[in-house]
Amino acid sequence: MVKGNMLYEGKAKIVYETDNPDELLVYFKDDATAGNGAKKGIIDGKGVINNKISAYFFKQLKARGIKSHFVDTIGPREMVVKRLDMIKLEIIVRNVVAGSLVKRLGLPEATPLTSPIIEYDYKSDELGDPMLNRWHIMALKLATIDEMNQIEHLSLSINAVLRELLKAKNVDLIDFKLEFGRDKDGTILLADEISPDNCRFWDADTHEKLDKDRFRQDLGGVEEAYQEMLNRLTL
Ligand code: ADP
Ligand code: TMP
Repeated sequence: MVKGNMLYEGKAKIVYETDNPDELLVYFKDDATAGNGAKKGIIDGKGVINNKISAYFFKQLKARGIKSHFVDTIGPREMVVKRLDMIKLEIIVRNVVAGSLVKRLGLPEATPLTSPIIEYDYKSDELGDPMLNRWHIMALKLATIDEMNQIEHLSLSINAVLRELLKAKNVDLIDFKLEFGRDKDGTILLADEISPDNCRFWDADTHEKLDKDRFRQDLGGVEEAYQEMLNRLTL
């Protein structure tokens, strides 16, 4: 595998072309942002940990029949993935009230939801990632109804798998963000990453936050929380 031209530098990762037109190389950075880029910082070692945790989840999902863009881990911060035509949506799945849902629903943090909630945000830095519903998604032609049905079904299946895996590590999955794309045959695949950057993980007993909220809310112990999640999942 030969690393080619840089295709895109995002807030947390850099994407490169490779000598295989169907594959990309993703480089995980230590850069951290919050509030749509308003707060910026570095979380030492985050890229290495997120690369490992994402690979772990993608492999576990594959073993349970859920396909993703993951091909291989080829370096401490480098993952080879299938090149996808990305759907410009963030799919947020929630099991417990936290973050922006506290304000939107007026419910206290940590209120359990009787069934999961799925939300869609438009991936647009210019617009500040506004929340969309299916009507907006159809009007903007971001995805078809059939694709949205597949995405919802996959998202709920992924939620069930991740909750079960995490429960065994004494971690509650509060909420998380997913991204999907189409491969060259038009098949919808899970993409991007699954890591403490885009999930809320709480210790099941103490409710200690083991994710990026420690950075967002200046709670301290940020690096330690990322390391703790890696240890619980892989040691
Ligand atoms: P952001 O764009 O939000 O700043 P990142 O820094 O994580 O995010 O950049 C990674 C970019 O790569 C994102 O825009 C994401 O949508 C995109 N991406 C993730 N997986 C794939 C894939 N398999 N094919 C093409 N693009 C991808
Ligand atoms: P929120 O409560 O801020 O809306 O976030 C819900 C979940 O989605 C949380 O686990 C963080 C994740 N998320 C991202 O990964 N990227 C984003 O841009 C947003 C808004 C949320």
